[in-house]
Amino acid sequence: MNAQPLAQHRLGLIGGTGALTLLPASEQYVVETRWGAPSSALSKVAVGPNDAPEQAWMIARHGDPHRIPPHRVNYRANIQALKDAGVRQLIAINAVGGINADFAVGDLVLVDQLIDYTWGRAHTFSDGPEHPLAHIEFAQPFDGATRTALIRAAQAAGVALHLSGCYGATQGPRLETAAEILRLKRDGCDVVGMTGMPEAALAREAGMDCACLCVVANPAAGLSTEAISMEALHAALGEGMKQVGRLLAHWDGRVEQGGVGQ
Ligand code: HPA
Repeated sequence: MNAQPLAQHRLGLIGGTGALTLLPASEQYVVETRWGAPSSALSKVAVGPNDAPEQAWMIARHGDPHRIPPHRVNYRANIQALKDAGVRQLIAINAVGGINADFAVGDLVLVDQLIDYTWGRAHTFSDGPEHPLAHIEFAQPFDGATRTALIRAAQAAGVALHLSGCYGATQGPRLETAAEILRLKRDGCDVVGMTGMPEAALAREAGMDCACLCVVANPAAGLSTEAISMEALHAALGEGMKQVGRLLAHWDGRVEQGGVGQ
């Protein structure tokens, strides 16, 4: 625990698989929340152009080093720690498998919808007598200014970005069966990942404007003639994360409203 209150920063990031080295930390703080310890220390990072960066707080979703499986991530502590540090805009970076045939390995997808197939995760802050019951509106889980600013950053950086897609959140840590992927496809999912929920809902409950930036790491199960290899997945993620880095280097959180087509 830190003796002094943390500096408050409006922007926060949660980095997933492959994102540990995306942004160097200038400072790190070990914090505790009423929901327990977050996955990692809070790292202070600079997002945006070198001459006018925005200071932000970042958490490594799977810990640093990477060790926490998707169903063991303390999503509530991660969101609470960021909220306590002033975060109101959240960029969640996620590795995913591609289901939509238009999405190639290495592509970036700013998903606009999700379906939750996870189970048994602590998925709400409305949990216990001291925490008021809240039924959040969630029809459009990622529809705010953070998303708009990311689209502008991608345009400014010349980074290709798919602007719509439905994220199917599965339980993991195993990969899916081919039949499960066909079911997700029938349901309308375009990508599959293990950590998008309950993170996005908790962020909404915490009053944050969350955008979910996905990197396609592999064709989802059964959609390629080859089995999913972790080596190939991590190599593809490395390339995709470079694109994320380029995009974030053009982040301008002041340009938030209007004019960007969905
Ligand atoms: N399935 C679930 N999560 C993932 C995948 C996948 O194929 N690839 C990266 N994260």
